Amino acid sequence: MVCAKKELREKIERLKKEKRVVILAHYYTNAEVQEVADFVGDSLALSQKAASVDADIILFAGVRFMAETAKVLSPEKRVLLPVVEAGCSLADSCDAERLRLMREANPDHIVVSYVNTSVEVKALTDICCTSSNALDIVRALPEGQKILFVPDRNLGSYINKCTGRNMKLWDGACLVHERFSAEKIASLKAQHPKAVVLVHPECRPEVVAMADYAGSTAGILAYCDRPEVEEVIVVTESGILHEMTTRHPGKKFYLVEPDEGTDKCISCYDMKLITLENILTTLEEERPEITIQEDVRQAAEGSIRRMLEMSK
Ligand code: 13P
Ligand code: SF4
Repeated sequence: MVCAKKELREKIERLKKEKRVVILAHYYTNAEVQEVADFVGDSLALSQKAASVDADIILFAGVRFMAETAKVLSPEKRVLLPVVEAGCSLADSCDAERLRLMREANPDHIVVSYVNTSVEVKALTDICCTSSNALDIVRALPEGQKILFVPDRNLGSYINKCTGRNMKLWDGACLVHERFSAEKIASLKAQHPKAVVLVHPECRPEVVAMADYAGSTAGILAYCDRPEVEEVIVVTESGILHEMTTRHPGKKFYLVEPDEGTDKCISCYDMKLITLENILTTLEEERPEITIQEDVRQAAEGSIRRMLEMSK
C-alpha cells in the first residue's frame, strides 16, 4: 500500500514536469493531495496564484467554483478538475436565474458575491470577495451604497455586524459549516480552557460569536502561528489539520464533533473526492477540463479582477 502511494506520487511528479502542469490545492483536500500540490492556499491565494502561475495546465485539487475561477483568470491555460461532480453546497444555493430576477427587482443595489459561486453568478456580480478580504472590500464601498450580498447568509451577517452595514442577504449557507454547534464548542472549551477558538465565518452567527478569531482558512492558520497560541479549538473543515500539524507539531488542535451521526469530525465531502488516483488519471488523460463560454467568462472576469485589484 505504502509502495503503491509512492509509485503514484512519482508518476504524478513525472507527468507534472513533462506536461508543464501546476497543481493548486485547497487546505480542505486530503493530506496526500496537499502533499503533491505545488501550492496550497485559501480561496484568495489560490485565485491570485491561478492568475499569475507559469504553466500550460493548472490541475485544480478543490471544488468546481475554484477551478472555474482559475479558468476565468487564465483562459489561455487548460484547467483540469479531477472530479467534475466536486461541487459546493454554498455555490449551489445561489442560482443565476434567481439572482438575475433579484437584481432586476433591486436596481439600486450592487451585487457583492462570495467567491463560492458559479461562474454564471459571478457574471452577474459587481465585485467578488473571499473570507480573507470580505470586510475590507465592503468597507471600501461608499457609505450608503445599497448592497446585495450572495450567497452566504452567515458570512453576510458577520460582515454586517463588523462593518455596521445593512446588506441585503441571500439565504444560502455551507452545509458543512452549518454543522458546527455552539454546544459542542462550549463543551470543548470547558475541557480545554486555555484553547483559543478559531472559527470560519461560514458558521452560524452564534458559533462565530464564540470565536477568539474569525477568518479564512489562511487567517486561521496565521493565528495558529502566533507563539503564544498553544492549544486551538478548530471550527472549520477537518482537512486544515494537515497544515496546522505540519507547521506546529508541538501544538494541540481539537476538532469539533458534529451533533448528529457518528463522524468524529466535520468534513467537506466534495473536497475529499480528490485523490492521488484521480489526479494521476487526470494528468494522463488531460481531462476532465473546465470550459466556459467566452461571453460568460468575460462578464465574470471583471468581478474577480476588481477583487484582486483591491487585495494587492
Ligand atoms: P477559504 O477562502 O477560507 O479558504 O474558504 C473556502 C471555503 O470553501 C470555505 O468553506
Ligand atoms: Fe463549499 Fe462548504 Fe465545502 Fe467550502 S466547506 S467547499 S463552502 S461545501
